[in-house]
Amino acid sequence: MAKEGKDYSKYFDFSGAKIISEDENGRIIRLNGRDIHLVSEPNYRQEKQRGKEQVQVHYENAVPDELKTLGAGKKYLIYTYGCQMNEHDTEVMRGLFDEMGYAQAEDRKEADVILLNTCAVRENAEDKVFGELGHLKTLKTEKPELILGVCGCMSQEASVVNRIMQKYAYVDLIFGTHNIHRLPHLLQEAHFGKEMVVEVWSKEGDIIENLPKKRAEGLRAWVNIMYGCDKFCTYCIVPYTRGKERSRLPEDVIAEVRELARQGYKEITLLGQNVNAYGKDFTDRNYRFGDLMDDIRKIDIPRVRFTTSHPRDFDDHLIEVLARGGNLVEHIHLPVQSGSSEVLKRMSRKYNREQYLELVRKIRAAIPNAVLTTDIIVGFPGETEEQFEETLSLVREVKFASAFTFIYSPREGTPAAEMTDDVPYEVKQRRLLRLNELIAELSLESNRELDGRIVEVLVEGESKTKAGVLSGRTRSNKLIHFEGPKEWIGQFVNVRVTAPQTWYIRAEAVCGETADAAAHAG
Ligand code: 5AD
Ligand code: SF4
Repeated sequence: MAKEGKDYSKYFDFSGAKIISEDENGRIIRLNGRDIHLVSEPNYRQEKQRGKEQVQVHYENAVPDELKTLGAGKKYLIYTYGCQMNEHDTEVMRGLFDEMGYAQAEDRKEADVILLNTCAVRENAEDKVFGELGHLKTLKTEKPELILGVCGCMSQEASVVNRIMQKYAYVDLIFGTHNIHRLPHLLQEAHFGKEMVVEVWSKEGDIIENLPKKRAEGLRAWVNIMYGCDKFCTYCIVPYTRGKERSRLPEDVIAEVRELARQGYKEITLLGQNVNAYGKDFTDRNYRFGDLMDDIRKIDIPRVRFTTSHPRDFDDHLIEVLARGGNLVEHIHLPVQSGSSEVLKRMSRKYNREQYLELVRKIRAAIPNAVLTTDIIVGFPGETEEQFEETLSLVREVKFASAFTFIYSPREGTPAAEMTDDVPYEVKQRRLLRLNELIAELSLESNRELDGRIVEVLVEGESKTKAGVLSGRTRSNKLIHFEGPKEWIGQFVNVRVTAPQTWYIRAEAVCGETADAAAHAG
C-alpha cells in the first residue's frame, strides 16, 4: 500500500490477463483478446520521487539511419491538447516525423499515424481525449493499418493507461513525456508488430538535446529552458507527469535562441512549468533565470516572453533585469491561484496574499508599465464565500489585464484529491462567473488606457472573422485588429488605438510615427 492509503499498483494488477511472454524487453500480455507489449508502465510512486542524482544531458542522434525512410509514402497527424509545453512537444514530434520521411496529413482520413498529445491538468481535458478516442474508433475499424497513439501527460497516469488497455483496446501505442525521443523506435514497433505498445518512463527525467523541431510558423517560437516541476502544489498533477525540475544548460538555450534570431524569428517565448526556478538544479555554476534573461537580452531578437513563473522564485535580480526592457517585454504572467492566504496554504503555494501583493508592488515600482496576467482556481476544497471574495479583492487590487480562470478539478494521486471537495458544483460555477465578470471589466479598463495612443504591433495574420483586417499583438500581449495589406504579416507596424473592446482592441495603422513611449505597455 502507498503511504497515502491508496494502492496505485492496483492499476496494473492484470491478474485476469494472460502473460504470453516476459523478457528484458518487458512483458507481452493478452487482455480481452488484445495483445499488449508492456515495455514499461507509469508508476505513481516513482513519479513522485525526487532523488539526488545529477541530471544527465544526452546529445542524441534522434533518428538512426535505418529509420530515416520509415515514413516514406506515409502521413501523420497530431492533435494537441493543453499548454504551450505540449504544443512545443508536438513541434519536436513533427520534427522527428519529418526526419523519418512522413508527410503531414491535411485530414484524418488520409493519415497513417494519428497521435493524441494529451493534457491531464483538469478532468475536462481528459474527457475531451476519451471523446476523441471514441470518434477515432470508426476510422480505425475502416482502416486497421492506421496507427493510433496516445502520448503526453495523460499517458503518465496509471489509471488512464489502464482504462485505455481495458476499454480502448484499438489504440496501438502509448508513450509518455519522458520518452518522446523514442518515437522513431516505437513507431517501427507499432507499424510492424501486432501488439499495443506501452512504453511510459516514470523516471524523474533527463534532458535530451539535439531533437529536431518543426515549428509552426516563421514568426514566433517557443524555446524550452527547463522541464518538470518540484513545487508540488497540492492540486496539481504536473510534478508527477513531467518529473523533476531540470534546466537546460544556458549554452544550449542561447545557441537555440541565436539560431532562431538568425532564421529571422521576431519573438520567442521561453518555456517551463516554473521558469524562475531555472538554474536552481545546477551544481557546477551559479546561474539563474535573471542571468539567462540578461544574456538573452543581448541577442538580436525583437521580443522575448516567458511563461510560466511562480511568485515564490521571482527574485529581485530578475526584476532588475526585466526593468532593463529592450527586447524583454513588459508582460508578466504571474499565477496567483487564490487571494486567500488560508487557501494558498492548503494549496501549498508557499506564499501568502501579502507576499504576492508585495511582489506586485516591487514589479510595478521597477517596471511602471508592466502588464500583469494570472491563473486562478475557484472552488478549491474548503474555499468559503469570504475566501473567494478575497480572491475578487486581490484581482481588483492588482488590476490584472486578463486571467485564465478554472474550476478546481480533483486529480487522482494529488494531496488535494484526498481533501473533502465540499464546495457544491453550482457554487463553483457561480464563483467562476463572478470572477470572469470582474476580469472582463478590468480587461476593458486596461485596454481603454491605450485609447488614442500609438503602439507597436507584431502582425501575426489576418483576422479570422473579417477580410482585410489584420491581427497582431502588442508587447504586452494585447490583441489588436486593424486594416492593412497582407504584406504586413510578419512585420512590426505602429498603430493608433481607436476603439478598445473587452478582449481585443481596434486600431488604425499610422505611418512615420513611432510608438508612444508612455504607451510602451501597449
Ligand atoms: N484544477 C483546476 N485547475 C488547475 N490548474 C492546475 N491544476 C488544476 C486543477 N487540479 C490550473 C492552475 C495552473 C493552470 C495551468 O491550470 O491555475 O496555473
Ligand atoms: Fe503545478 Fe504548482 Fe508546478 Fe505550476 S508550480 S506546474 S501549479 S505544481
